[in-house]
Amino acid sequence: MTLVRFHKADGTLDKEVEAKAGQRLLDVAWAASQPLEGACEGVMACSTCHVIVEAEDFAKLPPASDEEEDLLDIAAHVTRTSRLACQIMLTKELESLSVRMPPGSRNWMGR
Ligand code: FES
Repeated sequence: MTLVRFHKADGTLDKEVEAKAGQRLLDVAWAASQPLEGACEGVMACSTCHVIVEAEDFAKLPPASDEEEDLLDIAAHVTRTSRLACQIMLTKELESLSVRMPPGSRNWMGR
């Protein structure tokens, strides 16, 4: 089980949920009614699943692929600890994960 904490863009805690190993963070976020569009449903074509990961937790995640980095380059409000929620798989080693919603997103599909 991973305890996932979703924070609003202003940093306040919105929801704390338990998720199973093997779940995608995007699916956990949707189940927790988080405002992540995930327009491409996880095929890395939109960047609307962008989340800002708490620095301590960011270091525990496997590094982003080149494709993910390329999409993050064009996402809105990107920070050094930004990730795509569709690319984060929860593992049993990951006891907790805190993420914050960015103040907005940009959908690059259909351009
Ligand atoms: Fe589109 Fe993650 S859902 S890039």
